[in-house]
Amino acid sequence: MGISFSEQEQQFLLSTNDLLYVFEITKNNYLKHVYFGKKTNDVVAFENTNVGDPWIKQDKEERFSMSGFSNEYGAFGIGDYREVAIKYTRNDGSRNNNLKFKSYKIVSNKTKLNELPSLDGNNELIVTLADKDVEVDLHYSVYEAENIIVRHVAIRNLGEKIILNTVNSFNLDLKGIHDVYSLSGWWGHERQIIKHNVNLSILNIDSKRGLSSHYQNPLLIIADKDTSEDKGLAIGLNLVYSGSFSFKAEHTIYDDFRVVGGINDFDFDYPLEKGKCFETPEVVISYSNDGLNKMSQQFHDVYRHYLINKNFVFKTRPIVANNWETTRFDFTEEKIFNLIDKAKKIGIDTFVLDDGWFGHRDNELSSLGDWYPHKARLPKGLKPIIDKCKQNGLKFGLWIEPEMISEDSDLYKAHPDWALTSPDGIINLHRHQLILNLTKPECFNYIKNIINSLLDNNDISYVKWDCNRYYSEYFADNLKNDEQASLFYRNMVATYKLMDEIVLSHPRILFEGCAAGGARFDPGVFKYFSQSWCSDNSDAYSRQFIQYGTSLSYPLSSFTGHISVCPNKQVGTITPFKTRCNMASLCSTGFEIDLTELTKEQEQLATNFVSRYKKISPLILSGDLYRIFNPFEDKLFAEIVVSKDKNKAFAVIANQKLDRKKNVNLKFKGLREDFNYFIEECNLVKSGMQLMNEGIKIYFKEDYDSYSFTLSKK
Ligand code: DGJ
Repeated sequence: MGISFSEQEQQFLLSTNDLLYVFEITKNNYLKHVYFGKKTNDVVAFENTNVGDPWIKQDKEERFSMSGFSNEYGAFGIGDYREVAIKYTRNDGSRNNNLKFKSYKIVSNKTKLNELPSLDGNNELIVTLADKDVEVDLHYSVYEAENIIVRHVAIRNLGEKIILNTVNSFNLDLKGIHDVYSLSGWWGHERQIIKHNVNLSILNIDSKRGLSSHYQNPLLIIADKDTSEDKGLAIGLNLVYSGSFSFKAEHTIYDDFRVVGGINDFDFDYPLEKGKCFETPEVVISYSNDGLNKMSQQFHDVYRHYLINKNFVFKTRPIVANNWETTRFDFTEEKIFNLIDKAKKIGIDTFVLDDGWFGHRDNELSSLGDWYPHKARLPKGLKPIIDKCKQNGLKFGLWIEPEMISEDSDLYKAHPDWALTSPDGIINLHRHQLILNLTKPECFNYIKNIINSLLDNNDISYVKWDCNRYYSEYFADNLKNDEQASLFYRNMVATYKLMDEIVLSHPRILFEGCAAGGARFDPGVFKYFSQSWCSDNSDAYSRQFIQYGTSLSYPLSSFTGHISVCPNKQVGTITPFKTRCNMASLCSTGFEIDLTELTKEQEQLATNFVSRYKKISPLILSGDLYRIFNPFEDKLFAEIVVSKDKNKAFAVIANQKLDRKKNVNLKFKGLREDFNYFIEECNLVKSGMQLMNEGIKIYFKEDYDSYSFTLSKK
């Protein structure tokens, strides 16, 4: 189990409960990928395809063509026509990257990346490849119980400067045509599950926008045609990176299926000086031969135990009231006080003051960078609001957007050169704002200090860290010519450093991530943000798709979903209040609605929701998720989350339009057949066997109707 090396076969073996992953040192010292799949004692190695392509002339060996070779880390320039994992240019312009096996070691501690977030772990195989003065370390860590392998690559330059043109975190070579799933979408409809069939073509799933983006997520799933939630192959590949990324999946005429992934090489060139090392982001690979659901559960477990901010990952999350959808920029101290009074009545834990509390920010046009209270709106600063929260037994949370600057701000007046713009005077605005150049130490330190003193001098227990625009500037006046084409990457690294120095230096504050909704929802931010706003679309119907897609690799507690007003402000849908409560129960939760406007009945439902959420919260934090109905295919949503000991569970089923489906049979999953469960909402006891095999009959009464079930072992 774990990691081993067979001297006799010259093979590296990585094994988990279900997976075997084998690669070997060939006679000519290349590293050959041999097997990745179901555990077996009978490994059948991939045949090298002997094609009519150029072969490498070697002294004593037979013909050896790289284009049909399953290279464990495919390199450019030696006859491989597929997408490659690495390409670098030497000082003389040559690009023959002939990486051969040099050495290996197996260690009991996993490497922590220097500049990027990475998982904890307790084993690692490091295989070093070398090409003259360039050395490439391939790192592999194994999480046996979870069927997960984590990989990254470090490139060391011992000779004259080289330029890294492509540095993927991995390539994975399989055989045959596969389906590939991506989480694609747009603002308000993030992470929709899209199925692609890669057949004699190349699929590129990427972001070029500097953030992982609303449009594509750094998750790619390789599956078979008939893979379902409970059956078949599902290999999930998730990058621990929040910037521009790409996954390429390629199927060739020789039936080779290669996937590469990592930092997007669209406008990426990174000079590596003598003696320097470059580390790629990690990729987390979850293997399941029992369908997508198991693949997801494995991701959830590994993220909760080895990546997500340790201070909060298993801590009960506060139920928040956020004023954004209620007031936007138009609030007074009095309005906020009224919201806090109502929040207390309903049992809410934390009030979060969103955008508009600083500088002279009355709309989107100004003040980012001026992180001191709005004089007209909050003449006595934040203190009266914080005091009001305290008097009501609530905690206080605050919205910030530290990576950004408005042209109309004191900060911009003092330091226009801190904003990323271009030397020819073309300024691309997005939401009227610019991005700060955090690679400039003076800018970095200013932002770090002003935000840290804001957090140190006010009693703040929750921060919503927003980021509302994409990158579009390809120039920074402090970087050398040949450093410009890695600016997006460098600013991402500086942003992680800023998070290190703000978030990690405030271990008692819970940080929530946000990026115009869900434009930076990826494992890279998990180290800092225990939860992230997964979409600006709070409509309970749209959330069926968003939350279902997001759960493919991200645990329920890592995404936030709030109850909001109807007609919904983003899409106009009208859903029952109880359905809004039910959908918002399957994540970290809160309210985005004017609490002072609730009807008596809604207020009662909200109060019930809060007290029920407090009861089920351990399940949301650490339970196993089972997806039952898929809104993309079944026109119905149903999920159940079950405690590890199977004693407790919580399920939600939600309909779409009533004319599509009125009666359904809900068969639960994940329970113990021999346990009896009391279902609170129905006041009845049924065995796990009955619930899973016979199910219970559901009658929907109106559009977007829903039901929830709280189960406990009798
Ligand atoms: C975008 C976020 O997604 C919203 O929730 C809100 O915080 C606004 N930004 C504020 O500008």
